[in-house]
Amino acid sequence: MTDHLLKFDNVSMIFKIGGGLGLFGGKRVVALNDVSFTIPDKPGIVALVGESGSGKSTIARLALGLLRPTVGQVLYRGREISEWLKSDKYRFRREVQAVFQDPYGIYNPYYKVDRVLYLALRKLMRINDREYAQSLIVNAMKTLGMRPEEVLGRYPHQLSGGERQRLMLVLSLLIKPRLLIADEPVSMIDASLRAIFLENLLELKKTLGISCLYITHDLITANYVADEIIVLCHGKIVEIGDATNVIRDPLHPYTKLLVDSMLLPDPRAGKAIEAASIDVRSLSELKPEKGCVFRYRCPYAMKVCVEGVPDLIEVGDGRKVACYLYGEQASSV
Ligand SMILES: Nc1ncnc2c1ncn2[C@@H]1O[C@H](COP(=O)(O)OP(=O)(O)OP(=O)(O)O)[C@@H](O)[C@H]1O
Ligand SMILES: [Mg+2]
Repeated sequence: MTDHLLKFDNVSMIFKIGGGLGLFGGKRVVALNDVSFTIPDKPGIVALVGESGSGKSTIARLALGLLRPTVGQVLYRGREISEWLKSDKYRFRREVQAVFQDPYGIYNPYYKVDRVLYLALRKLMRINDREYAQSLIVNAMKTLGMRPEEVLGRYPHQLSGGERQRLMLVLSLLIKPRLLIADEPVSMIDASLRAIFLENLLELKKTLGISCLYITHDLITANYVADEIIVLCHGKIVEIGDATNVIRDPLHPYTKLLVDSMLLPDPRAGKAIEAASIDVRSLSELKPEKGCVFRYRCPYAMKVCVEGVPDLIEVGDGRKVACYLYGEQASSV
């Protein structure tokens, strides 16, 4: 028995792009650099936040076994995911489910939605009775506030992106997975349905005891659903901690920047205002070759931040931060 569901153990992911022979032939993209975290074996939602290009989807793809790490290990219940896919693929697929807008072709374009859901029930839950399957599908849709008569009988491309995302939760209700890997699950949903989706997610956690890696660049929804937050910056984890604490008192300068750029309620106007906006496209070019990943943008950058890479250290209350401003590292600065 292990105490974790998912564990990233010193994982680095390097993509090689372009032609050329050997490691130095093409261009290398370090999408993840020495990433370690765990999702414990208890119901809970862990949000993974970071701006575009920080490596979030790479983590999702590794967690689902769609990629293998260049360095390090990705474990589910103590076993490497590649092992699960070799020897126990169906159990892994039943227990670890993707909630994406279009989760890697789970929606076969030639199958109607009913058939997609029925096949999942047959393959993963061994339910062969079509009528029984249909009643489960209809019930699950109703539970999640969808209208079966409007959705069933259609092809995936006849549904909106938001409807497809909500269908993924219907699938969760049917399959009862242990872990959801949700990569930007509400990106296509408008504000009113977004709240319903997030409520549904919280409900699944409560009633089915599901855990979820909730990936987003939006701290507002992370704050709404997450128990814990992991902050990713240019392929490195810079902060981990209890969600409320991280948002209320961000420690890493990058987390502070993210929290500052959340939509803050304006008490005078009673409206939401945008505190600061970041042009992520130009900033993602600013990835240093060495030193702290955030040093070009950090208002506190010191000499040591250019020379070394700060370790992710525990600073009390389960909070971890990778910054020379904290812990023993601070005294040596
Ligand atoms: N198959 C690939 N080949 C080459 N580079 C890749 C590949 N997949 C991802 N990358 C690169 O790895 C980095 C991380 O990409 P990733 O998709 O994980 O970011 P992300 O945080 O999900 O961004 P977004 O918020 O825009 O979805 C980026 O620089 C990206 O260009
Ligand atoms: Mg992504």
